[in-house]
Amino acid sequence: MKILVIGTGGREHALALACSKSPMVDTVYCAPGNPGMATFGQCVNVSGSDIEGLVAFAKENNVDLTVVGPEATLALGVVDAFTEAGLKIFGPTKAATQVESSKDFAKAIMAKYNIPTAAYKTFDNYNDAWAYVEVQGAPIVIKEDGLKAGKGVTVAYSLDQAKEALEIAFDIPENKVVIEECLVGFEFSLICLVHNELVVPLEVAQDHKCVGDGDTGPNTGGMGSYSPVKKITPAIIQEATDTILKPMAKAMVEEGVPFTGFLYGGLMLTENGIKTIEFNARFGDPEAEVILARLESDFVQAMLDVMDDKEVNLTWSSKVSHGVVLASTNYPASSTKNALIENLDDVDCLVYHMGTKQTENGLVTNGGRVLMIVSLEDTLEEAFAHTYKEVEKVQCKEMFYRHDIGKKDM
Ligand code: AMP
Ligand code: GLY
Repeated sequence: MKILVIGTGGREHALALACSKSPMVDTVYCAPGNPGMATFGQCVNVSGSDIEGLVAFAKENNVDLTVVGPEATLALGVVDAFTEAGLKIFGPTKAATQVESSKDFAKAIMAKYNIPTAAYKTFDNYNDAWAYVEVQGAPIVIKEDGLKAGKGVTVAYSLDQAKEALEIAFDIPENKVVIEECLVGFEFSLICLVHNELVVPLEVAQDHKCVGDGDTGPNTGGMGSYSPVKKITPAIIQEATDTILKPMAKAMVEEGVPFTGFLYGGLMLTENGIKTIEFNARFGDPEAEVILARLESDFVQAMLDVMDDKEVNLTWSSKVSHGVVLASTNYPASSTKNALIENLDDVDCLVYHMGTKQTENGLVTNGGRVLMIVSLEDTLEEAFAHTYKEVEKVQCKEMFYRHDIGKKDM
C-alpha cells in the first residue's frame, strides 16, 4: 500500500513512522514532511494548505490511504476534497472539524447532549464579557474561538489577568470569546479512532501545556508527555469513553456532522467526575509521539477497520513512553530559526522532528517546538532518567526544555 501523511511536525513524524511499520505498506509519502520523516519516508513538496495539490498528488501516485496530521488542513476541507475525488482519507470533514475549530460549536453540542464540561458563556464584545467576568470572579478561563495552536487560552488567576486576556482577544475584529468555569483536577488526553458512532479508545497520555517547570508560564502546544498515566486507570478510561467520547460521536451523527478520524478528548479528572476541557479533531502533539511509540499492532489496519465499521483490537507495549520537547528560545511568544543542532546522532532514543530544517551547514531549528526525544522503559522513573540523559546530549544554543515532564505521576 501507499500511504500519504500530511503535515510537517512531530505528530506527523509519529503517524508516518507508525504507518511505515505496517507489513501492508511499501511507501509512506510525507507532504511536505520533515528531515526526520525523510529517513524512512518520501517527502514531497506539497504543503498542507494546498488542497488541490494534495488531491492531484494522491491521484497521480495511486495513494491508497491518506492520514491528516494538522487541524489547519482539516479545517480547509481536505477530507471533503479527497472524498469527492474518490480517494480514501482518515479524518473529519470540514463541518466535523468545527468540534475543534470553533469552541462555541463544541460547547453548544456538549450542552445540548449533557456531555460533562465546564460551565460557560460565549461573548462577541468586550463590555458584556468583562461584566460577566466581574460577576464570576477569578480564577476564570478565557478562550478565543477558532484555531490558535493551543495558545488562545488564558487561565486567569486574577481579574487583571482576565481583563488583559479579554483586551487582547477583542483587539481582533469579529473575535468571539468563550468564558469558562475554571476546573481543578488531573488533566489527561484520551484520543479515539472514530467512525460515526464507532469509538475505539487508544492509550492515554498526559501532556504538559505550560512552558515552564512546575506548570508555570503561558500555555504552549505542549512541552512533553508520557503514556500510560498511572492515575488514569482502565475504569476511568472506560468511564471517559462511555460518558464523553461515545456520546460526542453519537451527538455529531445526530447533528448531521458525523466524525471520522482521531477524536481527541482533552479531559480533566475532577472531584465531581470526568469533565471535558476541549475536543480536537486530530491526533495530539506531543501525545502522538508517546502513544504511537507503544502501539504494537498494525496502525494502518486499525484505521481501515474503523472506517469499515469493524471493532478493532489494539495491542500495546506495557512499557512507559516518556518524551521531552526541545523548543526554540522565546517559544511560545516567538520562535528563533536557523540555530545549528548538533550531536543528534549520539542520542540513543526515539527522535521526532517537530520544527527542523536540513541545510548545507547541517540540521537547524525551524519553528517553536523543534525536537521531541522519547524513551520507552519499564517504569516512568526509568524512562524519565533515560530521556533526560539523552536530551542533555543535544547541542543547540537556542533551545530549552522543561525538566519535570512526568514528575507529578512519579
Ligand atoms: P485548550 O486549548 O482548551 O485545551 O486549553 C489549553 C489548556 O488550558 C488546557 O489544557 C488546560 O490546562 C487549560 N484549561 C482550559 N480550559 C480550562 C478550564 N475550564 N479549567 C481549567 N483549565 C483549563
Ligand atoms: N497537545 C495538545 C494538542 O495537541 O492539542
